[in-house]
Amino acid sequence: MQRTFILLKPDCVQRRLMGQVIARFEAKGLNFVAMRMLQITPELAKKHYAEHVEKGWYPMLEGFITGGPVVAAVVEGLDAVRVVREMLGATNGLQAAPGTIRGDYSSSQQMNLVHGSDSLESAAREIALYFADEQVCSYEPTITKWMHAANE
Ligand code: TYD
Ligand code: MG
Repeated sequence: MQRTFILLKPDCVQRRLMGQVIARFEAKGLNFVAMRMLQITPELAKKHYAEHVEKGWYPMLEGFITGGPVVAAVVEGLDAVRVVREMLGATNGLQAAPGTIRGDYSSSQQMNLVHGSDSLESAAREIALYFADEQVCSYEPTITKWMHAANE
């Protein structure tokens, strides 16, 4: 069982796609264990995208990600880091495969709707940027026994 961090970016909120995106993750079997809406500050953006701060396109990315409210969330599930990344698809919505979230809803490299952590280490770092330990609510959904076998 893994935890990973998801961010519904400002384009997702503005385009009223939050419900459809959340529904996909829920239908897959991922459990939402934390969620909150906030507006990202430039300081938080620089921490979140620390690996990209020096890139030429970072100022545009910061303007976008701080330009409207976002929804930060933590989901839990088997192999959750990889599963979420594969559900998102390639970074550029124009190249993302149909059937993925970006492939189905995005026609942009920057405005690609949803962020997902790229490794377990990134997930732990990003979860800690947005949530205190006590804000993550672990629980066992009663439907679990119908989502996967007991030995999976
Ligand atoms: P990256 O970590 O490469 O993509 P991913 O979100 O798939 O892990 O880049 C982080 C975000 O930066 C990406 O979601 C969209 C944005 N971005 C740009 O705005 N321009 C670019 O040229 C790239 C590569 C990314
Ligand atoms: Mg990345």
